[in-house]
Amino acid sequence: MKKIKLGKSSLTVSEICLGLMRISESKLKDNTNLVKTALEHGINFFDHADIYGAGECEKIFAQVMKSGDIARDSILIQSKCAIRKGCFDFSYDYIISSVEDILKRLNTDYIDVLLLHRPDTLMEPEEVAKAFDMLHSSGKVRHFGVSNQKPLQIELLQKYVKQDLVANQLQLSLTNTGMIDSGLNVNMQVNQAIDHDDSILEYCRLNDITIQPWSPFQYGWFEGTFIDNPQFEVLNNAMAEIGENYGISKTTLAIAWLLRHPAKMQPIIGSTNANRVAEVCVASSIYITREEWYKLYIAAGNTLP
Ligand SMILES: NC(=O)c1ccc[n+]([C@@H]2O[C@H](COP(=O)([O-])OP(=O)(O)OC[C@H]3O[C@@H](n4cnc5c(N)ncnc54)[C@H](OP(=O)(O)O)[C@@H]3O)[C@@H](O)[C@H]2O)c1
Repeated sequence: MKKIKLGKSSLTVSEICLGLMRISESKLKDNTNLVKTALEHGINFFDHADIYGAGECEKIFAQVMKSGDIARDSILIQSKCAIRKGCFDFSYDYIISSVEDILKRLNTDYIDVLLLHRPDTLMEPEEVAKAFDMLHSSGKVRHFGVSNQKPLQIELLQKYVKQDLVANQLQLSLTNTGMIDSGLNVNMQVNQAIDHDDSILEYCRLNDITIQPWSPFQYGWFEGTFIDNPQFEVLNNAMAEIGENYGISKTTLAIAWLLRHPAKMQPIIGSTNANRVAEVCVASSIYITREEWYKLYIAAGNTLP
């Protein structure tokens, strides 16, 4: 598994990350096998959020570490906070208490990265800065980042926050390519030219912020996977054909497609199936051609000007 630097931090992270959002439905034995398999295939970075399974996923992960005899310093843990029922909350008190709860559930003294999960329009950046300082100086959080934020939101926060924002988690998959579409259709009178994210792809690259594509196998808003889905027949046919060139599955190719982008992104995969995780990790050794990359982009329903 190739490793990349996470943003401007000193962290060396696997270029594929395992997200644990869905593990609350599985047995401890299967979850332990899942995490062990990820480690065996070179994944050293695990993504959580306080809301996954209403906190259960972090608790289960702590049990997995114990039952799997996984040393805390052998892995990197990221979690997120700021989504509450009915609102988003970047207040000092809420960030601090969320992290305290995250640490308790994960049964650890520190997390490697904390992300603010979704933008809070009532954010007072001075409060976030105070919270980050407190968490950083006490050793409870080593690095900070954001999720689902656009460039000026990051700039506003970074104006006040001392620590570099190292990651931005964004929805991106073969069937969710808004941030790529707008860059390919500049000056065009077509829907794909609409820039919903204010050039977030270019902004993150310019500022050394690692993009972490979430839900890399899903279409729409958690509507299911596009892999082997008859709604995406053209895409699946193209994936099967290109996959054959490398002897890899469509699942592996979906991640190889993200990794082929030179932005050095870190896809967050959410499979709860150990075999599938092993299958996906092969993507780290695949480098598809430019022509193949564009062929898949077009097969997903996009056009080029
Ligand atoms: N920042 C945010 O706002 C945000 C939002 C959502 C998610 N996330 C993060 O992103 C991670 C991934 O999200 P996700 O779970 O929605 O992403 P995903 O990896 O796209 O989807 C995984 C789900 O798809 C299923 N699946 C079915 N067929 C598949 C195939 N051929 N290949 C791969 N998966 C297949 C998996 O089933 P099996 O379990 O049986 O493999 C699993 O239920 C989460 O764990 C979380 O850490 C972040």
